[in-house]
Amino acid sequence: MSLVKIGVTMVFIPTPVKSQKSQASGGEKVSIVALNRESIPRATALSLHLGLEGLCDSKVASGLVLEVSQSRLGLRDYSQHRSRALTVDSAGRRYPSAGKDLLSRALGKHCHSVIDATAGFGSDTFDFVRRGKQVCAIERVVMVAMMLEEAAEEFQLRQRDGEIRVVCGDAIDEIRVQRSADVIFLDPMFPDRGRQSAQPRKAQQMLRRLAGEDPDASTLFQVARQHARKRVIVKRPRNAPPLGDAPDIMHKGKSVRYDIYLTGRTSR
Ligand SMILES: C[S@@+](CC[C@H](N)C(=O)[O-])C[C@H]1O[C@@H](n2cnc3c(N)ncnc32)[C@H](O)[C@@H]1O
Repeated sequence: MSLVKIGVTMVFIPTPVKSQKSQASGGEKVSIVALNRESIPRATALSLHLGLEGLCDSKVASGLVLEVSQSRLGLRDYSQHRSRALTVDSAGRRYPSAGKDLLSRALGKHCHSVIDATAGFGSDTFDFVRRGKQVCAIERVVMVAMMLEEAAEEFQLRQRDGEIRVVCGDAIDEIRVQRSADVIFLDPMFPDRGRQSAQPRKAQQMLRRLAGEDPDASTLFQVARQHARKRVIVKRPRNAPPLGDAPDIMHKGKSVRYDIYLTGRTSR
């Protein structure tokens, strides 16, 4: 590894030891840079762990770059002029009024635990935890899971209710071995989501570039149905076809729809 200093953002050139595609993300190539001298050891370790190419100067960066500081991981798109780094935000959203709270209706009255099997950057995950649920968040893109875990640790220090556990792996396998949950929640990539997405566009676009499509979403759905104690919830764009057969219940919002598949003997 060599150290280089150029301007304010500088740093190191480690040698990747693993293929990024299999270790860090399923999609686009990502580089890594330390934002200051103190974070060089962390960036070096991450570079080796994730198999990312280290940049000596963010000025030469193009495309997606994982920016490392001691306290934060951020993803910045250097091909976009003046773009800001995306960090996982665990801060609260405002809940809609009771009658309009589709997610609350989708979860049902007797939900205590949730497996968020497609956790991504965790906006749904943190929503569940803030509602006092025990959440197991599963994400298979290693870099995304690490960003989520960092935010989850920080969140857990502030929040007393709810519990969050981040698992890095494929939910098709993990659902079978993790503690079972009342609800399994799925929000797979939708090929043509575009403006229909209920998520912040920037986070959604980043995820798509990192994770690619989710061609095995139907398999995940089948596994979820076999393992959810009470229900499977599938989040879809409002007018998209269902992921599986016709759901037992549907809650439609302006841009998003929750399809509910009952698996237990609980009442609706
Ligand atoms: C549309 S995003 C989910 C966004 C998320 N609900 C949020 O609030 O940020 C889909 C995510 O699920 C992940 N994913 C899809 N299939 C998965 C699987 N079988 N196991 C684990 N993660 C999966 C993808 O890598 C991607 O990050």
